[in-house]
Amino acid sequence: MLWIFLLYFIPAYNASVKMITHHRALMTCNSTEYSITETWRDCIELCAHNDSCVIAQTNLTVPKECQWCSIQNLMYIQKRFSANNNMIIALKTDTINEITESVCTPFEQGIVNGNFNNTSNLTQYKYSAQPSEDGNFLHFSYSAIKSCPSEWEPFDRIRGGWCIKVFRQGGSHDDAHRACKEYNAVLTRLETPKEMEYVWNTAYSVEAIFQKPSWEVYLETVWIDGVRKNECQVPNWKSIEGCDGLDGFEFEDKFISKKGGYTWSDKNPDRLDNVQDCLVLWINPNDKEVDDDACGSNAKIKGFACGKEAG
Ligand SMILES: *[C@@H]1O[C@H](CO)[C@@H](O)[C@H](O)[C@H]1NC(C)=O
Ligand SMILES: *[C@@H]1O[C@H](CO)[C@@H](O)[C@H](O)[C@H]1NC(C)=O
Ligand SMILES: *[C@@H]1O[C@H](CO)[C@@H](O)[C@H](O)[C@H]1NC(C)=O
Ligand SMILES: *[C@@H]1O[C@H](CO)[C@@H](O)[C@H](O)[C@H]1NC(C)=O
Ligand SMILES: *[C@@H]1O[C@H](CO)[C@@H](O)[C@H](O)[C@H]1NC(C)=O
Ligand SMILES: *[C@@H]1O[C@H](CO)[C@@H](O)[C@H](O)[C@H]1NC(C)=O
Repeated sequence: MLWIFLLYFIPAYNASVKMITHHRALMTCNSTEYSITETWRDCIELCAHNDSCVIAQTNLTVPKECQWCSIQNLMYIQKRFSANNNMIIALKTDTINEITESVCTPFEQGIVNGNFNNTSNLTQYKYSAQPSEDGNFLHFSYSAIKSCPSEWEPFDRIRGGWCIKVFRQGGSHDDAHRACKEYNAVLTRLETPKEMEYVWNTAYSVEAIFQKPSWEVYLETVWIDGVRKNECQVPNWKSIEGCDGLDGFEFEDKFISKKGGYTWSDKNPDRLDNVQDCLVLWINPNDKEVDDDACGSNAKIKGFACGKEAG
């Protein structure tokens, strides 16, 4: 038996939402919402325009009662529901682009993926549907797709999504740490050369470097994560075990699984003058290396890079 279906394209706040309708199907929802609508079409529109809604349903005998369910509450759809032929559902999706014969196929036999935004906080949700063994039920599961706030650059770290933003603002390493904290972020580490390139490019291009007089040497750095461990902040640090290179530093960015992003500038870290205990990235032409610098230094510092988990 072929399913009778219709595909509606309904313009929503940011895109066209697609709703596939199927007759003789019944949703089972953990927490059904009820609204009164004039027509079944209005019920579909209501669902399309509410990010919380993934499926609308009505009994066409009493079409004003619009029942709908949010994605995290939808448990399954019973297909070929025969007790009453008047039940109809409309399922939200964005994976199907045009009405073709194959529209029925994924819904009947395979996996349907829906993927839509939550306007309240821009979280994207995705659902997948899996048919039961006898083919009479479609079971749903959903997951949130994490994303970065606007103006924060997303990176795929091994542990998941990471967001970085570069701020052009002077101050000490501690000032930078506090500023990041206001964004629920930390000073970022650089897991990959890609992250390093991003920080460098952003910091370098924002500054009007070419406005500098040609005789002025361009010396700029931005703070990144890394403060030398207390026990390594001593004159003989080099002879202490665990104080060498990156090992000598403590990091607040724990969302990292490899130490790939750093290239040390020549002979560094060197803890020059016994004060250089915080990490910076050089933002000079042809110089994208990490160095240690005095944590209170403000002279060359033109910014800092914050990072936080995608959410
Ligand atoms: C979507 O539905 C929820 C739950 O009923 C409601 O609180 C919210 O106001 C609705 N949003 C819109 C945009 O209508
Ligand atoms: C969308 O986000 C709001 C606010 O965080 C939340 O209450 C709602 O449950 C979310 N919607 C869905 C479909 O998860
Ligand atoms: C649909 O509505 C009719 C009329 O109220 C009712 O007899 C029937 O049981 C309803 N069907 C379902 C599945 O609730
Ligand atoms: C619906 O509720 C039941 C019982 O509380 C729970 O086991 C199930 O995981 C819930 N389903 C969904 C999709 O949230
Ligand atoms: C969801 O929102 C994000 C951020 O605004 C946007 O980039 C993305 O294209 C949106 N996705 C959909 C399916 O609308
Ligand atoms: C967005 O909504 C999801 C689902 O309700 C929730 O887990 C998350 O904490 C929310 N994020 C923000 C920033 O409100």
